[in-house]
Amino acid sequence: MSAAIGQGHTETPAISVDGVTVHYGDTLALDRASLSLGHGRICGLIGMNGSGKSTLFKTIMGMIDPESGRVRIDGGPTRQARRAGVLGYVPQSEDVDWDFPLSVRDVVMMGRYGRMGPLRLSRRADREAVDHALERVELTEYADRQIGQLSGGQKKRAFVARGLAQEATILLLDEPFAGVDKRSEATITRLLKELAEAGATVLVSTHDLHALPGLADEAVLLMRRVLLHSSPAEVLRPENLARAFGLDITPTEATPTEATPAEVTLTEEEAR
Ligand SMILES: Nc1ncnc2c1ncn2[C@@H]1O[C@H](COP(=O)(O)OP(=O)(O)OP(=O)(O)O)[C@@H](O)[C@H]1O
Ligand SMILES: [Mg+2]
Repeated sequence: MSAAIGQGHTETPAISVDGVTVHYGDTLALDRASLSLGHGRICGLIGMNGSGKSTLFKTIMGMIDPESGRVRIDGGPTRQARRAGVLGYVPQSEDVDWDFPLSVRDVVMMGRYGRMGPLRLSRRADREAVDHALERVELTEYADRQIGQLSGGQKKRAFVARGLAQEATILLLDEPFAGVDKRSEATITRLLKELAEAGATVLVSTHDLHALPGLADEAVLLMRRVLLHSSPAEVLRPENLARAFGLDITPTEATPTEATPAEVTLTEEEAR
């Protein structure tokens, strides 16, 4: 079962990461990481702080050139997929300049840039797509606010709306649930599922281990390299989490408590 996930299908994978290595100076962030994701799948990306999740997203996006290894999107180069507007990206909040003088609507409109000419003049179809995306993430009333003047959960939803407006078929979301309330979490989860139902591929990093089975079809444990790519249930086995986190943590309770390992991780991250 576990070996079959992400493998074994004959169609071209939506995302294929093959032996990718990335250093920042002396820091080894990704060490021959390999991953293959099929179409219409939601895959959770799990790993401790500093395990390379954001680096993996940036490498898939083509924002970082790996020293070795290769990324293919729908069988072709990342650059081509980005030009075609196939790849949508919701960056980790820490990677966004929230002071940038853009309204929520402007941010969502960025998802349409690939369809516009060099002057970036929006057409009616672009404006309608933006309005529709804002409705779907329930941010219509915030459309004209500067992006930094939203709450954490609303900011995440604004970036999800950008991916929706883009009509991206491969969505990369870096911790979209960090610091969001249950309502935003439910809205984002529902949208991701609708997108996957419609054939989109979703790679989503999260520290919320309790929510993983309800969110994802499959999951990847990352610790600079892919330790395990399997079902959420398999990835959440204590012995597997222990390999990735160096801890014995057991998220088997049906009801999350304040002291869940996932939230401890988040708190540590927020404290940095
Ligand atoms: N711009 C950078 N310059 C130098 N080192 C970096 C840079 N970005 C990340 N690193 C280092 O690379 C490693 C992987 O970082 P990355 O941000 O990919 O981890 P992560 O899994 O996303 O962590 P988190 O859960 O905290 O978001 C870490 O050791 C980090 O300190
Ligand atoms: Mg990160």
